[in-house]
Amino acid sequence: MGSIQLKTEIPGPRSREVVARREAATPQGAAKLTPIVIEKAEGAVLTDIDGNQLLDFAGGIGTLAVGHCPPEVVNAVKMQAEKMLHLCAIVGTYEPYVEIAELLNDVTPGNHRKKTVLLNSGAEAVETAVKIARSYTGRSGIIVFEGAYHGRTNMTLSMTSKYGLFKKGFGPFAPEIYRLPFPNVYRRPAGLTEEAFVDYAISQLDNALISQVDPSAVAAIVIEPVQGEGGFIPTPPRFLRHLREVCDEFGIVLVADEIQCGMGRTGKLFTVEHYDVVPDLVTIAKSLAAGMPLAAVTGRAEIMDAPHPGGLGGTYSGNPLACVAAVEAVKMINQPGFLQRATEVGRRIEDHLLAMQEQFPLIGDVRGLGAMMAMELVHDRTTKTPAPAETTRVNLETVKRGLVTIRAGLYSNCVRFLPPLNITNEQIDEGMAVVNEALTVISEEVHA
Ligand SMILES: Cc1ncc(COP(=O)(O)O)c(C=O)c1O
Repeated sequence: MGSIQLKTEIPGPRSREVVARREAATPQGAAKLTPIVIEKAEGAVLTDIDGNQLLDFAGGIGTLAVGHCPPEVVNAVKMQAEKMLHLCAIVGTYEPYVEIAELLNDVTPGNHRKKTVLLNSGAEAVETAVKIARSYTGRSGIIVFEGAYHGRTNMTLSMTSKYGLFKKGFGPFAPEIYRLPFPNVYRRPAGLTEEAFVDYAISQLDNALISQVDPSAVAAIVIEPVQGEGGFIPTPPRFLRHLREVCDEFGIVLVADEIQCGMGRTGKLFTVEHYDVVPDLVTIAKSLAAGMPLAAVTGRAEIMDAPHPGGLGGTYSGNPLACVAAVEAVKMINQPGFLQRATEVGRRIEDHLLAMQEQFPLIGDVRGLGAMMAMELVHDRTTKTPAPAETTRVNLETVKRGLVTIRAGLYSNCVRFLPPLNITNEQIDEGMAVVNEALTVISEEVHA
């Protein structure tokens, strides 16, 4: 028997009722991608309030590397809850706060002396990294890239690229942000080789340091080693290495935003390890604490210590429950066997997607790194015209069949796969068979 067990249509009657209440009680801006209402979750399996079992290929948007409710994390949280729920790290110290900071200093790339500040969300981590870089350099300019996603606070929204979905109506945005082209090799001009395209992106960056902002005014370059919301686009290695060189030459802080691609997702604890690039600061969140709200900025001690006492943190930053969850999650993820399995999960998903790409002309590109895989849907493989409506249909059709998938991409035309990494091969195959069914239905309609 498979993991997907449906007793009602999806969404079932009770789910519909609760979703209607959600819609009445909460604003549409805090949107939902699926109509399901989940009661409990374990590993890669969700159980909804109508008693249906679904497979989860969204994993809390990449938050559940260790799966839903791993016993080690649940027990640590339970034990901590009985002792102390909250103190506030501004008021005093508790050991798990120190322990997770020490652990992150230890496991992040680079042998230099490091420090970690704990925050609540990914956006808060990125915003804090910007504050630290500005304080350290005494400069204000921040370089980011087209297609990037860094969060929904005013600063991180200003750094985020996709306008319509995230930024519409929310300006004015923060100043001193310079957005440069990102070498998305799938969408390079026809006739240009990948190498030549990356060369061109590098020359555009170098030129921007003359035409847009002087390097002496730039505090940080912030980049996702694999773009997440942008559509799972790995940064070309030469481009990332060039950023490191530019930062070294001009005293700019290199920030790797590993919020979506970090914590084992790509088969290394941090994605920059694939590139042999050591960033000055790393922003970490999502899978860090197995779903408990915790984020971090870890980096060079001398940079981290630049802001004055009281300049960083907040009431809930580094809550004890989140810290103990993170200690357990990081220990689990940082095992060679766990990281090896992440690579295998990614390969198995990729094999399925490549086979489907041969079957369905709708799939223009299959890409990613490790277990961060996506397919990009296009109307035509030559013009690469994005197919966002079909992408939304894939999500709806898979959920109806008991598989949770979500979209991504600057053009909202990618289906991304972020399953818990303790998923079994049988569950991957079962889920990908559902994706195949959904694509079959949609492709038949397109050609009808
Ligand atoms: C790369 C990246 N940076 C920052 C964020 C913002 O994180 P949060 O939603 O926890 O604020 C995200 C969230 O998806 C992300 O993928």
